[in-house]
Amino acid sequence: MISRLRPTLGFAELRAALSWNQHHQDVQRFEKAFAKLAGQHQSVAFPYGRTGLLAILQTLGLHGREIICPAYTCVVVPHAIVTSGNRPVFLDTYPQGMNMDLGLVDQAITKGTGAIIATSVFGQPADLDALDVIRSTHPEIPIIQDCAHSFFCEWNGRPVHKAGLCAVYGLNISKIMTSIFGGIVTTDDSDFASALRAQREQILSPATILKSIKRLLYLISVYPAFTPTIYGLINRMERSGLLDKFVKYYDPGIIDMPEDYLQAMTPLEARVGTIQCYRYPDIVAHRRKLAQIYFGELAGIPELRLPPRDTGATYSHFVIRTPAATYLRDYCLDRGIQLGNLIDYHIPDMAAYSDAVHIGVGNARQLPEQVINLPVHTGCSTYQAKRLARTIKNSLRNLASQQI
Ligand SMILES: Cc1ncc(COP(=O)(O)O)c(C=O)c1O
Repeated sequence: MISRLRPTLGFAELRAALSWNQHHQDVQRFEKAFAKLAGQHQSVAFPYGRTGLLAILQTLGLHGREIICPAYTCVVVPHAIVTSGNRPVFLDTYPQGMNMDLGLVDQAITKGTGAIIATSVFGQPADLDALDVIRSTHPEIPIIQDCAHSFFCEWNGRPVHKAGLCAVYGLNISKIMTSIFGGIVTTDDSDFASALRAQREQILSPATILKSIKRLLYLISVYPAFTPTIYGLINRMERSGLLDKFVKYYDPGIIDMPEDYLQAMTPLEARVGTIQCYRYPDIVAHRRKLAQIYFGELAGIPELRLPPRDTGATYSHFVIRTPAATYLRDYCLDRGIQLGNLIDYHIPDMAAYSDAVHIGVGNARQLPEQVINLPVHTGCSTYQAKRLARTIKNSLRNLASQQI
């Protein structure tokens, strides 16, 4: 089976995880390697991306404020905002796009606005020209780049992660590169980095040996889990709902954080992350190659809307949009290809956020039913990507013949 995601993990990561120690220097080494990769002065590691976001808001001294963020993003983002004692203000997406409509920011800004979280959803770069205008009109409002989907992508040659006070990244196994779990913040502002480190010291407890053991066991289980046969089995169990307890990462009615969100990143995760920093260029080169195959094979099909053909994208996901998404996903799954639907909700419609401020006409509301992520991971070969594109075309032909 071709899986919708698959981390690029080799023997080196396993060896690093097994070389047992709890040295805090491993975390510092990872921070240095990641900052170098990002081309930034500093990076600060956290147990999750959302903990990094929480710490950023706390470091900025924000409490009881409004934080502008997309209505279509990962729900853990507003969870971190609420946990920090602030309120999310959700902005709709552009009519044809998936990123937050920056033209709505002016309507959203009030005296209570504390920060703007600009997200490059699915790795499609945020419009930095529009952000420049916002920054010059409201220099007092910090811009946080959420790069969990968009490691080092560029807008017209400008790195997105550098266009703000800081950038936050998630590092779980579904991300472009991984440290098993974990998150990290990059910045060029040394004073901010020092304050963020001090805040981290204050809120996080040290990683325990038990947490390291759990992370090691998780990593060991990931290797076989992504072999095609076992993945096929897991997928069947997942579809039957048997694995909900393990794979459902949100409940629409509950705002929560993982139980260990205030326990530091383990040195073991940091060692894995350091190796992944070296792998990163090859991982992204592969993703770009598969993206070009999809562009070539799927262009000009009226039922499909492809992402902008942007050379600055690093393709955390290759996301197409189609009204036939559900049919297409089922058709491909029957043929051993799993297509994803990573963000299958519109946050303002979730019970937990029904009272939150939401600006826009609701373009984002259509996305959960229309988007499909095609695999771009290193476990998917160019041959498989071509086969996948053919299967998509066949499915659309099949659907059209049924409708006649
Ligand atoms: C857009 C976005 N921002 C932030 C995060 C937070 O990352 P984490 O899961 O490490 O808390 C995620 C997580 O997947 C995400 O998709």
